[in-house]
Amino acid sequence: QEQTLILFKPDAIQRRLIGALLSRIENKGYKIAGLKMLQVTPELARKHYEEHVEKPFYPHLESFITSAPVVALVVEGPDAISVMRTMMGSTNGREANPGTIRGDYGTSRQMNLIHGSDGPEAAKREIPIYFQDNELCEYSLSLAASLMAADE
Ligand code: GTP
Ligand code: MG
Repeated sequence: QEQTLILFKPDAIQRRLIGALLSRIENKGYKIAGLKMLQVTPELARKHYEEHVEKPFYPHLESFITSAPVVALVVEGPDAISVMRTMMGSTNGREANPGTIRGDYGTSRQMNLIHGSDGPEAAKREIPIYFQDNELCEYSLSLAASLMAADE
C-alpha cells in the first residue's frame, strides 16, 4: 500500500477545518497511518520546501507555514499519492475545480489548506521529515465489521 505525506496547513486549522478535511480522507476509504499536530519551524520549512527555497515567494511561504500549527498525516492506500493530489485540486484555489478540497474551500494561491507529496520520491523524502518510524501505526481496518456487531 502506498503512503503519502499530507499537511493541513495553518489556514485549515485556523478555519477549524481539521474535521472536514479528515472526513474527506476517511470517507474516501484511506487509512490514517500517522497523525500529529506540530508547529513548523523555519528549519523544518526549509527542509520540507527544499525545491522552493530559492524562489521569490519562499519568504512568504515560510512565514505562512510557520505562522500557526499544522496537522501532519501519513495517508495510506491504493495510489494514495496521486489520488490525494487529485482530491486536493490545483495549487491556486481560484483555479482548483469544485469538488476538490482547494476548489471547495479557498480562493488563495498560498493559503491553500493542504499539502500532499507530489510523487513517490517526494513521499519517501517527506514522511521521515515529519514522522519517526515508531510514530507510524500498522493496523488492519477489518475490525470495523466486528465493531458494528452486537457485544460479546
Ligand atoms: P504543496 O502540496 O503545498 O507542495 O502544493 P503544490 O505542489 O500544489 O504547489 P507547489 O509545490 O508549487 O508550491 C508549494 C506551496 O507554495 C503551495 O502550495 C503554496 O502554498 C505556495 N505557493 C506556490 N506558488 C506560490 C506563489 O506564486 N506565491 C506564493 N505566495 N505562494 C506560492
Ligand atoms: Mg508541491
